[in-house]
Amino acid sequence: MANLSKSTHFDWRLAKYDLLGSRAHAEALADKGYLNPEELTELLKAVDQLESRVEKGSFKPKDTDEDVHSALERGLIEIAGSDLGGKLRAGRSRNDQIATEIRLFMIDAAAEIQSLLISYIEQLTIQAETHMGVAMPGRTHFQHAQPVLLAHHLLAHAWPQVRNLQRLEDWQGRASLSPYGAGALAGSSLGLDPSLVAEKLGLKAPEKNSMDATSSRDVASEFLFICAQIGIDLSRFSEELISWSTAEFGYVQLSDEFSTGSSIMPQKKNPDIAELTRGKAGRLIGNLTSLLTTLKGLPLSYNRDLQEDKEPVFDSVDTLLLVLPAINGMIKNLVFHTQRLEELAPAGFSLATDVAEWLVRQGVPFKNAHEITGQMVSKCEELGVGLEDLTDKQLAEISKELKPEVREVLSVSGSIKSRDGAGGTALPRVLDQLMELRKIAPRTDLEN
Ligand code: ARG
Repeated sequence: MANLSKSTHFDWRLAKYDLLGSRAHAEALADKGYLNPEELTELLKAVDQLESRVEKGSFKPKDTDEDVHSALERGLIEIAGSDLGGKLRAGRSRNDQIATEIRLFMIDAAAEIQSLLISYIEQLTIQAETHMGVAMPGRTHFQHAQPVLLAHHLLAHAWPQVRNLQRLEDWQGRASLSPYGAGALAGSSLGLDPSLVAEKLGLKAPEKNSMDATSSRDVASEFLFICAQIGIDLSRFSEELISWSTAEFGYVQLSDEFSTGSSIMPQKKNPDIAELTRGKAGRLIGNLTSLLTTLKGLPLSYNRDLQEDKEPVFDSVDTLLLVLPAINGMIKNLVFHTQRLEELAPAGFSLATDVAEWLVRQGVPFKNAHEITGQMVSKCEELGVGLEDLTDKQLAEISKELKPEVREVLSVSGSIKSRDGAGGTALPRVLDQLMELRKIAPRTDLEN
């Protein structure tokens, strides 16, 4: 029973937040006269002492302590004596304590994750800026579709993380409400002011319903969803880097510092960071799934099942704090093979849409333009040549609409330049995005 019940091996991580809660709660007790000013001073001093013992590692949970709360209460009583130390339990319960502490932990973790996401966006913008004019094949269905700028493609991986930043910010509004004061489930009869505790903890306000405050964990599952989404978005870029670094693609070279060799094949350079990032996405989804499954069908209010929220939260935070610095370093050190990217940009008749749209500008209905261009592609396939290689005569044989001037659009640079509608791949539009992203993730590698 004791082994099953014990949580100190993981919830000890919350010690700092438990002590913050104790300080705030002591103030709330003193505010209503349950501690006189001397007792408050004494108690706060004892909390400080306990905290420094915890930090030094000289105070640790014992085998007989069930959780972080009971261990720290024992520690406080050891320092302040049971008459004074025992007063702190009035008007609070481990149920409102834990619900508050996991929020404080997640809020701090979210700030670390946010700052690493900003670096991720920064690294993508730096690579984009370094390769601003470089064209590459754009794909749909993984087939060559239309040429795009490499910068456009890289920045397409920045925006999902901008949304994840926004999600974290929005989540924080809900996470910043304090369950403290809810007691075990029904609230406190001591007339304490929970907004005083909330304020001391840096939270906006107390929660509105003591039963909801102690028994809901959607703030944790929402956080785990955002972590999982971050992982999924990172895994999509990772997957591309894994493909791009093969001989068949030859788009990019991973630096030696951010790849690994093989114990048997001397020539190998493996994209392990990208693979691990892709793999860890599974784990992040697992953590979310685990908590959602725990919450499903739980009756109100606190149930011990809720203790199962902590390990998934800790694991998702640890995973992202491990993955993000590695992937940021890897992006910084990517070497793109720009000539190869440029050469492949027109492959797979990727300028066919440009021909069709040129015909539309000449007044041909799009349906006919689509057919005429399709015939051009068939002709090229038959002859084994590119669209730009057809002679004036061959063009005219396909359709009288195909004047020699069509060649103006049969270049990758012309195609890219023409896609200058909002959000398009034309250079000015990519620069627009870059400026927007810079507001979120300024360059930190340059002086001023
Ligand atoms: N260790 C518990 C948790 O993580 C703290 C609350 C325990 N409450 C209780 N009544 N046993 O949820």
